[in-house]
Amino acid sequence: MRQVMVAGNWKMNGSSDSVKELMAGINAGMGSVTKAEVVVCPPAVYIARVSDAADGTAIKVGSQNICDQDKGAFTGELSGEMLKDVGCEYAIIGHSERRALYAETDDLVAKRFAAARRNGIKPLFCIGETLAEREAGVTNDVCARQIDAVIALEGVEALADGVIAYEPVWAIGTGKVATPEQAQEVHAFIRAKIANLSADVAQGLRILYGGSMNPGNAAELIGQPDIDGGLIGGASLKAEDFLAICMAAE
Ligand code: PGA
Repeated sequence: MRQVMVAGNWKMNGSSDSVKELMAGINAGMGSVTKAEVVVCPPAVYIARVSDAADGTAIKVGSQNICDQDKGAFTGELSGEMLKDVGCEYAIIGHSERRALYAETDDLVAKRFAAARRNGIKPLFCIGETLAEREAGVTNDVCARQIDAVIALEGVEALADGVIAYEPVWAIGTGKVATPEQAQEVHAFIRAKIANLSADVAQGLRILYGGSMNPGNAAELIGQPDIDGGLIGGASLKAEDFLAICMAAE
């Protein structure tokens, strides 16, 4: 049985006050969340205080990126050791915004994946196609290529240390959610592709859906056989909505 995961990607949102309020709000509702593993990924400057607020609760903390290198002259980057030091158990890797806006290649994303593993941080590894790629009928090829970059560097067993998030780029922040059938089709493809190399890894691997998931559509998406939870952007910024998505797994 794969445990459902609901992870909030706060992106570049929040302030000292709002982060405190959001954590208090999520924490207040956590008593009713019995099934989902709950993770929040704040902006890096707030990770330490979010970790403090999460201390003693079931809420886990993740970063939104991680440096592919471990130490030294890498201005603006955050090492796995530092992230671990401030309480991160997970790190989002290869988010489409990083890939598109900050030119992160499949290769670099794979190196970041490796750095997370090396430092005992679980990769929350994002993949997904753009609208043009979907319309060109290459959705599966794109997802396969992104996954293969990690497999080439780290081997298929490495995937067992993390979670994959399938996030169709056209659904992120657009309100245009993939239908449960569209999402399930890609999730099933991903699992089958990995099963070709390792049935065990494929069976145990959690594949989250991300892209305009909200309290209204979460239960149906998470109800699909190969959808094991969600990576939530916009709706993770309101405690009530985020908790409602966590409850969709109940
Ligand atoms: P969204 O973002 O839920 O706002 O579409 C998801 C993500 O980017 O992870």
